[in-house]
Amino acid sequence: MKNKVLIAPSILSADFAAVGAAVEKLEKCGADMIHCDIMDGSFVPRITFGSQMVAAVKRHTSLPLDVHLMVVNPAAKIADFAEAGAGYITVHAEACGENLAQTLKAIRAAGVKCGAVISPDTPLSAAAPALELCDMFLVMSVYPGLGGQKFIERTLAKAEEAKNEVVRRGLSCLIEIDGGVTEENAGRIAGAGVDVLVAGNTVFRAADMAATIAALRGRK
Ligand code: DX5
Ligand code: ZN
Repeated sequence: MKNKVLIAPSILSADFAAVGAAVEKLEKCGADMIHCDIMDGSFVPRITFGSQMVAAVKRHTSLPLDVHLMVVNPAAKIADFAEAGAGYITVHAEACGENLAQTLKAIRAAGVKCGAVISPDTPLSAAAPALELCDMFLVMSVYPGLGGQKFIERTLAKAEEAKNEVVRRGLSCLIEIDGGVTEENAGRIAGAGVDVLVAGNTVFRAADMAATIAALRGRK
């Protein structure tokens, strides 16, 4: 039997007035991490929440918090989110530009696991040199900014390519995919070598959250 796929439900799809209860339920229902989508109104049009919310979420769960920073100048936000209790902080290659490696190192130096993120139109080559520095590598399967979008099929080849690179270079970096993950496509995504599936709408719209998380996980 191969490795278990990890499920990281995104609280972007939760009722923002009841996030504590939502996170407790996710943990009971078998989630492996809690994905926190940080949007600043500049890197993406919407604003979600910041480090105070992450700190509040942390008080409701022992699961690692997977903080996905969709912000401009992510390097400036590392200390806040590290202090808030992030388990992982992932930063967009598009937001970091030439400072990607430096930003990843700064996250590690803050005592947090780090990851690079590439948007659907960004080639793997924009971040591949940084794979050595990553604990996680996130391939966006929708354009960042909104939950509930449709999975962009062509991004799966990029995730598979990233996994191949990880294996080829003997790294331990996890490959994560984010956006449009459903019970229907989860098996195929895991089959491409993806280790961590983010799911917002699919988990929060489920009639039986535990069953849906189990179905997403499947076996790989
Ligand atoms: C989009 C976010 C995703 C989003 C996924 O910018 O990064 O994490 O919440 O939501 P679903 O699973 O609904 O596509
Ligand atoms: Zn996300």
